[in-house]
Amino acid sequence: MIQREPIIRQSDMIQCALCEDAPCQRACPHLPVSTLLRSIWFRNEQTAALSLPPEDPCLSCRRPCERACVRPGEVPIHDLINRLYYQVLPEAETPLPEDTSRLACDLCGVPMENPFLLGSSVIASTYEKCARAFEAGWAGASFKTVTRLEIQEASPRYSAVTGSDGGIIGFKNIEQLSENSVAENMEIFRRLKRNYPSKVIVASIMGRAEAEWGELARMCQDNGADVVELNFSCPNMVEGDMGAAIGQLPELVERFTAAAKKACSIPVLSKLTPNVEYMNPAAAAALRGGADGLTAINTIRSIVGINLHTYVSSPAVRGLSAIGGYSGNAVHPIALRFIGELGLDPQLKGLHLSAAGGVETWIDALEFLLLGASSVQVTTAVMQYGYRIVEDLIAGLNLYLTEKGFSSVREVVGQGLSSLSASSSPLERQSVVFPVFLRERCIGCGRCVLSCADGGHEALYLSPERRPVLNGKKCVGCHLCRIVCPENAIAASPRRITIPSPDRRSKD
Ligand SMILES: Cc1cc2nc3c(=O)[nH]c(=O)nc-3n(C[C@H](O)[C@H](O)[C@H](O)COP(=O)(O)O)c2cc1C
Repeated sequence: MIQREPIIRQSDMIQCALCEDAPCQRACPHLPVSTLLRSIWFRNEQTAALSLPPEDPCLSCRRPCERACVRPGEVPIHDLINRLYYQVLPEAETPLPEDTSRLACDLCGVPMENPFLLGSSVIASTYEKCARAFEAGWAGASFKTVTRLEIQEASPRYSAVTGSDGGIIGFKNIEQLSENSVAENMEIFRRLKRNYPSKVIVASIMGRAEAEWGELARMCQDNGADVVELNFSCPNMVEGDMGAAIGQLPELVERFTAAAKKACSIPVLSKLTPNVEYMNPAAAAALRGGADGLTAINTIRSIVGINLHTYVSSPAVRGLSAIGGYSGNAVHPIALRFIGELGLDPQLKGLHLSAAGGVETWIDALEFLLLGASSVQVTTAVMQYGYRIVEDLIAGLNLYLTEKGFSSVREVVGQGLSSLSASSSPLERQSVVFPVFLRERCIGCGRCVLSCADGGHEALYLSPERRPVLNGKKCVGCHLCRIVCPENAIAASPRRITIPSPDRRSKD
């Protein structure tokens, strides 16, 4: 069975830096240790366990990997491999699939070997970068937005909200569009198509007026692009009828989509902005303009990290800062919301949805597919971890599809829509699911009691032995206790209990 909750957690890897050309790997004569560690990190522990040789070579090994580590002795590599062998492997029921053909799909009829594309940005801005990404396994790339505007970027241009381990939770950029000339980008498209004919080149473009949208779309097609993506959503290009300003005005979305469609015969995606309350009107306008699909989301307008001495937010450029686009893991739930709403809309049936926003693992990508996306774009996670993450995206999704008995990735698209309601009103409200406390895991910290008292319904107290005790009369089954528990020691009861007294809810 697929493990939604991993047996080994990222926190068990403690100080692993996920090194480039990892010294632990160089020191280990037996196993691809750095690949195994990465798989654990990217929620792909089953693939890691299933790829181990039958005999455990660590049994007779003196741990040169741990000594070679850039943080010597701080990453329990031996213990992690041990857990793969003796905890994860026994739970893995399906053998590793032999090939990845079930991941084959298409972008508006253009064949793709898997659903994973580089998102339009710095990660897909040169020939060499795209070539390295294609070699790593990406099915294609949405190239950094091509424009006739003169672009000169600010420095510094990035900032981030980070977690306690220093990893990026949310990422802010004030970057604009491709600094290459149009001619340079066309030359890149020709070379990429010549040398990687089976990879999908999505040409992201931004024009200034109808004629220019059409001209750029045709040029990209004539120089090897398979698909055109219309950037109606850059939050860092909002002067006049530019960038995200277009995505906020359905009439412009329709007009510029129609201009691009008229000028080329390859599929056209309209990339929409999340900086609106509701994206569907712009999506319907793109459809009226003839779009074959939609890309969502671009980045969300944001401010991060105000310096308490200078009062300038980050990134500060010579004492000034600007509102910029937010991306990465933090925006994933918001991106899921937009994709879900687009997927639910019967008017938009038949449009290809290319989803972007906070994908790091195959699970994040699968969530988009389940809500109706047919391809998935990744940017921030590649900026943080490199092109190599595609190995775990492919392997994790492939194993999941095999375990669930799907013969093609197309079969999962939209599977999550029938249980999704755009509002919370149709939900059943007559019963509760109580928490259950896993005594063997509880460390007696009392965090659940504290949160229930101040942020919940005062339904828990701490016993003299420092264990939570539930008052079933007060508990409303909100599950705040479960969420705040640092040890994952609270679960949901398998039973749903009907609330006995309606007067408990009475306002009189
Ligand atoms: C540094 C940076 C530059 C970007 N440049 C572009 C761009 O030129 N054109 C575009 O359509 N989107 C651009 N994006 C948006 C991404 O393509 C993507 O839609 C967004 O970052 C959400 O995905 P993510 O969370 O995987 O990064 C950029 C994003 C980042 C972080």
